Amino acid sequence: MSRILVAGGAGYAGSHACLHLAEAGHEPVVFDNFSTGWREAVQFGPMIEGDLANPEDLAAAFAQVRPDGVMHFAARSLVAESMEMPEVYWRANVTGTLNLMEAAVKAGVGAVVFSSSAAVYGETSLALIGEDAPVVPSNPYGSSKLAAEALIRDVCRRYGIACGVFRYFNIAGADEQARIGEWHRPETHLIPLVVQVALGQRQEICVYGADYPTPDGTCVRDYLHVTDLAQAHVIGMDRLLAGKGDFTLNLGSGRGWSVREVIDHVRQVTGHPVPERLNGRRAGDPARLVCDGARACGVLDWQPQHAELARMIADAWRWAQTSGFSR
Ligand code: UFG
Repeated sequence: MSRILVAGGAGYAGSHACLHLAEAGHEPVVFDNFSTGWREAVQFGPMIEGDLANPEDLAAAFAQVRPDGVMHFAARSLVAESMEMPEVYWRANVTGTLNLMEAAVKAGVGAVVFSSSAAVYGETSLALIGEDAPVVPSNPYGSSKLAAEALIRDVCRRYGIACGVFRYFNIAGADEQARIGEWHRPETHLIPLVVQVALGQRQEICVYGADYPTPDGTCVRDYLHVTDLAQAHVIGMDRLLAGKGDFTLNLGSGRGWSVREVIDHVRQVTGHPVPERLNGRRAGDPARLVCDGARACGVLDWQPQHAELARMIADAWRWAQTSGFSR
């Protein structure tokens, strides 16, 4: 059993990682400032309220927890917002990461797993995006993630800390028991918004552009079930702690779904009507982002177990119906 400090462990991806760390016999300790995370999501271990912006908070947390490893999910992650306030994104995602790494070094942590993003690749015409694709971020969110990756690798190399970087494509779904799920405020992501329309909580879903060079004209994305993502993190951390080598890996399902296909799946899974309205394109949206996930499968000896879009939507639907934090 290992003790893992989970920065951002009250958020969507971080809380599912805590669940699966706990199920694997590890002890996750959440470190979160609850700016976008949820206290209700901290169910699988202790929690420390603190901010990556405050080195004193970090020093106190590391002294108390003495973790074997760190998982780092804490970040600002909205592309449009990052275009409006780049300095806020650099401070949160880069300075915050630097503070975390300095504390991790002082505490003698053995391994760090970092949540990066497909946003590091920027606009690309590649049908499948592998880890060797050029990294040319097209917004401050992506550049801040790329910079944080570099700083983590540099610090880890110097101090002999094992280092794993995961570049996420789109994450979807929820814990199948609906203990935790996706809950952002405000919500900007496609699947939870469409599910809210099916639930009658919103009137319609806006489709941001149907004039993209894709089969039905709407954007194509690669959706990975959050449970598969969390399990990849646990395997990755175990691998690092066992001294089996550093990694930088894409996490996705390798299958692309258009916005219209997602909406149709929600209609089929829920049996509810989903009115849609065609809007103009949303700034900064690439036409197609689909992951070449072969390297992650090989390195981790892992396969997504819930790769069907209908399964992700069914779990998101169950979560939205039965739960949801602080409605
Ligand atoms: N979309 C709509 N209507 C909506 C919301 C979204 O048509 O109301 C479309 C978007 O235009 C996009 C697709 O649905 O084409 C998916 O949008 P999301 O907002 O759900 O997700 P993104 O692909 O924009 O963002 C995700 C992550 C980001 C990450 C980005 C790039 O949430 O953190 O992928 O990797 F930066």
